[in-house]
Amino acid sequence: KNIAVIAGGNSSEYGVSLQSGNNIYNEVDETRYNKYLVILKGRDWHVKIGDVTYPVDKNDFSFTKDGERIAFDFAYITIHGNPGENGLLQGYLDMMGVPYGGCNVLASALTFDKHTCNAYLKSYGVNVANSVMLKRGMAYDVNEIIEEVGLPCFVKPNAEGSSFGVSKVKEAGQLEKALREAFALCREVLIETFIDGKELTCGVVKAGELDFAMPIAEVIPKKEFFDFEAKYDPKMSDEIIPARISPELTHRIKTLSSMIYDILRCDGIIRVDYIVRDDEIFMLEVNTTPGMTSNSFVPKMVRAMGGTLRDVLTKIIEAKLS
Ligand code: DAL
Ligand code: MG
Repeated sequence: KNIAVIAGGNSSEYGVSLQSGNNIYNEVDETRYNKYLVILKGRDWHVKIGDVTYPVDKNDFSFTKDGERIAFDFAYITIHGNPGENGLLQGYLDMMGVPYGGCNVLASALTFDKHTCNAYLKSYGVNVANSVMLKRGMAYDVNEIIEEVGLPCFVKPNAEGSSFGVSKVKEAGQLEKALREAFALCREVLIETFIDGKELTCGVVKAGELDFAMPIAEVIPKKEFFDFEAKYDPKMSDEIIPARISPELTHRIKTLSSMIYDILRCDGIIRVDYIVRDDEIFMLEVNTTPGMTSNSFVPKMVRAMGGTLRDVLTKIIEAKLS
């Protein structure tokens, strides 16, 4: 079977995606499958074999090498953001009849719109921070916003990842600049109450015989918050797995993560981020295409369980191929 690991994409997380893609590509079991790294950027889709690239035929998701047409039987998406995390690529693969190892169109589109996802999960009783959403060009009143969310607050693009365009705002005077930075990346911006607590994250995988929440990770950024640099420079944050929290809280977060997975009807691997203040759990966001770089949480969580990404991937692939 021919497995495509799809990386790249059209968002600021392009570089992160290439790292995730390479890491996943290395972990696909080459004794079982023919594996290929497929890189997308805009309309340029190509298969990369060593230093040689081959254009992808988008009409049937195949490519031709030495006169031989190679069609893909399965895809693993490692594109963060557009179009791999918001449902677009999932829709294309559905139309091509190619199975993939993650969330479907609906779950991807819903979770990638933080505002909609928050509202949806809230209706199931999931606790999220207070927030206000603004659209580009919309009139707003700084005082009204601050009255609603308080200070400090977080300003973030509604549909982005890896903390691109995210600012922590401590004074009203900093809000305009933060909004400009977030609007540069997204037409909608979320302004959220800052919750002073422990930052935790929990991976969940369900596929075939796999059905579990992974060990919870605790993040201690050495900066003001867990921004892009803290996320990808190992020196800029400490990550503790399993998190130093009570067995009871561990159980609650794992159960909640698995429940969120089911409410959203997810598939494959997701990762849910939280802030916990005292005993109160706030869901921050659901990542349906979580980072898979060697410094990312999910690979570390799998290692902490004594498992291997290779084995998890094989089970995810087999669940769809058999
Ligand atoms: N958006 C990054 C890749 C993550 O959530 O892991
Ligand atoms: Mg994210």
